[in-house]
Amino acid sequence: MTRNLLKNKPSSPISKRCRSDDFTRLRQRYELWYNVIQDQSGTRVTRDGRELVMLASNEYLGLYDHPKVIEAGKKAVEKWGGGTMGARSANGGRRFHTELEERLAAFLGKEACHVTSAGYLSCMSSITGFAQRGDIVIVDKNMHSSVWDGVRLSMADVERFKHNSPERLKALLEELDPSTPKLLAIEGIYSMEGHICALPEIVSVAREYNCFIVMDDAHGIGVLGNQGRGTADHFNQTDQVDIIAGSLSKSLGSTGGFIAGDRASIEYLRTHSKQTIFSAALSPCQSACALAALDVIENEPQWLERLWKNTRRYKEFLDGLGLDTWGSETPAIPIIIGSRDKAYHFWKRLRDKGVFSIFATAPGVPPGKDLVRTAISARHTDEDFEIIESAIRYATSKM
Ligand SMILES: Cc1ncc(COP(=O)(O)O)c(C=O)c1O
Repeated sequence: MTRNLLKNKPSSPISKRCRSDDFTRLRQRYELWYNVIQDQSGTRVTRDGRELVMLASNEYLGLYDHPKVIEAGKKAVEKWGGGTMGARSANGGRRFHTELEERLAAFLGKEACHVTSAGYLSCMSSITGFAQRGDIVIVDKNMHSSVWDGVRLSMADVERFKHNSPERLKALLEELDPSTPKLLAIEGIYSMEGHICALPEIVSVAREYNCFIVMDDAHGIGVLGNQGRGTADHFNQTDQVDIIAGSLSKSLGSTGGFIAGDRASIEYLRTHSKQTIFSAALSPCQSACALAALDVIENEPQWLERLWKNTRRYKEFLDGLGLDTWGSETPAIPIIIGSRDKAYHFWKRLRDKGVFSIFATAPGVPPGKDLVRTAISARHTDEDFEIIESAIRYATSKM
């Protein structure tokens, strides 16, 4: 039982706000988010003593527990210990960082790469490291929160354009002062919707107006392109995208993030990004696991093949039931339910029937797009699909 450690309840306005916030109460009351998983193995997790099929991991290739990844993590901890105890700019740089950076840069088709301890930091840095007061950052409306935070901290002006619309981007750029430096921020695969960026059309507009292009490809790496090299590679546009940022926590089976580009840009970022200058460097274990996962991605093509086979199977199943998947074209597949209450019950029924998914409601998604987010893994088996399909059929029948 939790003991009340405070004799007198704090009375500052902020303490009161914390105690009376409706959204926090809603979250606690309905046990939304912050799940505690007691055990896991492959695609199965244990929550409250019950085994569930994980249908919400962004770990698309299922490499987090690949024997080579586990072995690499163990060896790194044995040699280097638990942490780096400092920032790259100070005492935290190690040779495993530069090794990972060189391998990632080569994989992504870029000259240089910089790794940080979170994808969130990397994606923020991909804006704050380049844009400054007086610039304009142009952002797709559905961008991830890490990029929005980067935009705010950069002190640059901001303009948004309609999600994935090259026409609206062009109309916007047409109105802006041609002499102002511009940074365009897009995602490779939009994480909530599963949409693939209309990259060739967007690049063509952005180039016409001389934008510096930053792409957050957290969900595209490992999923699209030759051997999983990402969205830019998928469209043969790697040389057109100035910066590719992303996460090591999706297909790379680890935690951490990266920013890749030409050498001059990455060196500039290392001098200007506070998120890297003042934050401890990626840990030995995280670095080693990501590097081992990269090896697996390059040498074991079966995971990418299985991912797409499973994705097609799942998408056909959802389409057959007439469910709205927001036009997703990738393994990140939302099921749009449309109201908070209904989405909650759909999510809860999936859990009751043994499937772990994620409930998302406004402001996390646009109003009216309340959804249950699901994601497919290369590791899902026929047996997993039996459980998933029967749970979704049940939840749909009760809608
Ligand atoms: C599109 C996108 N960018 C950045 C991030 C942040 O990555 P990380 O979870 O590794 O901090 C995420 C994670 O959810 C994401 O979906």
